Amino acid sequence: MKQDVVIIGAGAAGLFCAFTAGRRGRKVLVLEHSEEPGKKIRISGGGRCNFTNAHAGPENYLSENPAFCRSALAGFSPEDFTTLVEAHGIAWHEKKLGQQFCDRSSQEIVDLLLLECQRAGVEIRTGCRIEEVRPGYEVRTTQGAFTADSLVVATGGLSFPKLGATDFGYRLARQFGMRVTPMRPGLVPLTLPESELGVLGKVSGLSLPVRMTTGRQAFEEAMLVTHRGLSGPAVLQISSFWKPGDDLMVDLLPGKEPDFAAGSLVAALAGHWPRRFTEAWSQLSGPQKPWKQWSEKDRRGFLELVHRWPVPVAGTEGYAKAEVTLGGVSTSDLSSKTLESRISRRLYFIGEVVDVTGWLGGFNFQWAWASAHAAGQAV
Ligand code: FDA
Repeated sequence: MKQDVVIIGAGAAGLFCAFTAGRRGRKVLVLEHSEEPGKKIRISGGGRCNFTNAHAGPENYLSENPAFCRSALAGFSPEDFTTLVEAHGIAWHEKKLGQQFCDRSSQEIVDLLLLECQRAGVEIRTGCRIEEVRPGYEVRTTQGAFTADSLVVATGGLSFPKLGATDFGYRLARQFGMRVTPMRPGLVPLTLPESELGVLGKVSGLSLPVRMTTGRQAFEEAMLVTHRGLSGPAVLQISSFWKPGDDLMVDLLPGKEPDFAAGSLVAALAGHWPRRFTEAWSQLSGPQKPWKQWSEKDRRGFLELVHRWPVPVAGTEGYAKAEVTLGGVSTSDLSSKTLESRISRRLYFIGEVVDVTGWLGGFNFQWAWASAHAAGQAV
């Protein structure tokens, strides 16, 4: 069965690339091993899909080559995606920091992609396991063998294996002699050692605005205490920059000071922290004596830890809870204009499988759309 283009993976990037190529009159087949397409889109953004970010630019992406994403991002902007969303009558809103979400359900984004694929005459086969890929390209599957002029790999990253994530794309890249940069979970909750968890675990569910810093990277956002450690936007963002052995510093009261004239520690921090957090924090780091007996030195020591808490990170919650995979198919082996392999002609890698990872806030979908658009114009 001869195709112009075979795309492996019916996720965000695969479906977008499929209809982009289909609109150009290419005969496109998408192969997906799960029973349904777009599973990650469906659960994204808490069910409302943070489908893009109005401010997306190369500075919001991590990669061995941070400039690599520039060309694809310039070729398909956040406004281009919003225009498509509106053409489908999908109601959306912008939250803080340029994050754009569906008003109703992320299912609408999946439906948009599937309808565009249908209009462009794209064939999608689900429940199709890939057995072998031969140069040329011949793709042998549980549903037969397909040959294609161009092969696009859009199999995503390793996070959320329960939704069908596999290492297929990385293995295929290596099979064709391409380099894969070291991978690790990104946008992932951090775990704390028992010593801290014994106290902070009791206030899991509480959230407060903080500033988190590792190296020269800082994020000022909310931090959530969990029963295993720390999560929330500030933690997820910084987790992509933090590596085991690195320092991680938290300012728990950015730009503010406790009111030391107040009658109690809880009152001194009222309006800044939830009462239960103040109680837990004082147990963890405050001088263990009544507030009225705190000396100037006690206050200074307390403040130092409030503003510069060196978080004793035990680790991360791993790929099971990570939103993305850092690292992947090396950008040095890909064209930044078309996402075609420099080593094997007419072989393309798009979306999260590539060593380009966005911050939290709609940047990863924007990379999926933009890289898929670039390849979809070229295949
Ligand atoms: P994606 O994972 O979407 O698709 C890959 C497809 O390939 C899947 O359908 C998979 O089943 C298939 N596949 C894998 N191996 C295969 C094989 N061997 N054979 C055939 N098919 C195979 N980003 C964002 O910008 N805004 C957000 O709101 C969120 N929210 C979010 C929440 C959660 C819980 C997670 C885990 C992730 C997010 N993300 C996000 C990240 C975002 O979902 C992710 O970056 C994109 O889906 C990546 O798109 P891809 O198409 O590259 O991979």
